[in-house]
Amino acid sequence: MAESEGWALPKGNLMAGKKGVVMGIANQNSIAWGIASQLAAQGAEMCFTYLGEGLERRVRPLAESVGVDFLVQADVTDDASMDAAFAEIEKRFGKLDFLVHSVAFANKDELKGSFIDNTTREGFLTAMNISAFSFVDSARRAAAIMNPNGSIVTMTYLGSERTIPNYNTMGVAKAALEAATRYAARDLGPRGIRVNAISAGAMRTLSLAGISGGRGMIAQGRNFSAMKEDTSMEGVAGCALWLLSDLGRSTTGEVVHVDAGFHIMGMPDDVEG
Ligand SMILES: NC(=O)c1ccc[n+]([C@@H]2O[C@H](COP(=O)([O-])OP(=O)(O)OC[C@H]3O[C@@H](n4cnc5c(N)ncnc54)[C@H](O)[C@@H]3O)[C@@H](O)[C@H]2O)c1
Repeated sequence: MAESEGWALPKGNLMAGKKGVVMGIANQNSIAWGIASQLAAQGAEMCFTYLGEGLERRVRPLAESVGVDFLVQADVTDDASMDAAFAEIEKRFGKLDFLVHSVAFANKDELKGSFIDNTTREGFLTAMNISAFSFVDSARRAAAIMNPNGSIVTMTYLGSERTIPNYNTMGVAKAALEAATRYAARDLGPRGIRVNAISAGAMRTLSLAGISGGRGMIAQGRNFSAMKEDTSMEGVAGCALWLLSDLGRSTTGEVVHVDAGFHIMGMPDDVEG
């Protein structure tokens, strides 16, 4: 998200001297891109990983717009691809200070209707592999070359804690992701590395379009939130900046909700019978 798209990025030096990897930019609507542009405005040096050649066309111009020339292809389901990506990252950067994991996928057929009836073994394992295990794998690879005082952030959604229509198998994968965040925080804490998750409200991205009724999730998220407004990209990116910079010191193993207060609501406002 560039400033021209209506968001005045706070500029500063909070990430000056820090090098990191951002995984999960697919286009200008990606949450990873919102976070990356904020990190760039605060002086971070970054590598962007992207899924496939088709996406490079979209990711490269975005990267260039914030002065990033280090793009690496990485498919989280393919060990050889991950080996090659992290070898390249180590070769160029040596050490890392942060990792943003903003990657998820589940088959469209499983993001609708009945969870019990529509969840297959293959689909369940795909969602778990790409949306939860990939975080464990990426965090391990990044931590191996991470400086003390490093920070890792992943993206989750309230469907892990509460049932959300159609979110189904992805909700279960997000629950695993959040538990993995806590276990990783425990493991990496003694090495001075913090690990946190941001639970963002529904936002209009490619991934959301894969969920049946995705647009409805945005409207419900707004109407049923404490603030009665959409989750903003600047809010999510601001939270990532806090957690990834030294401002976030002493916060680890946390799931921070950035959803305009959607997660605190237990009942609609209108309770008159
Ligand atoms: N959009 C929302 O409403 C919302 C809300 C809360 C959390 N999230 C989470 O935010 C994260 C980013 O999603 P987004 O909404 O920005 O959508 P997005 O589609 O822009 O990003 C998802 C990314 O995952 C990548 N990906 C999928 N399979 C991959 C693989 N095998 N290897 C490597 N990368 C792969 C895609 O290329 C894409 O860049 C996801 O974890 C998503 O669940 C999204």
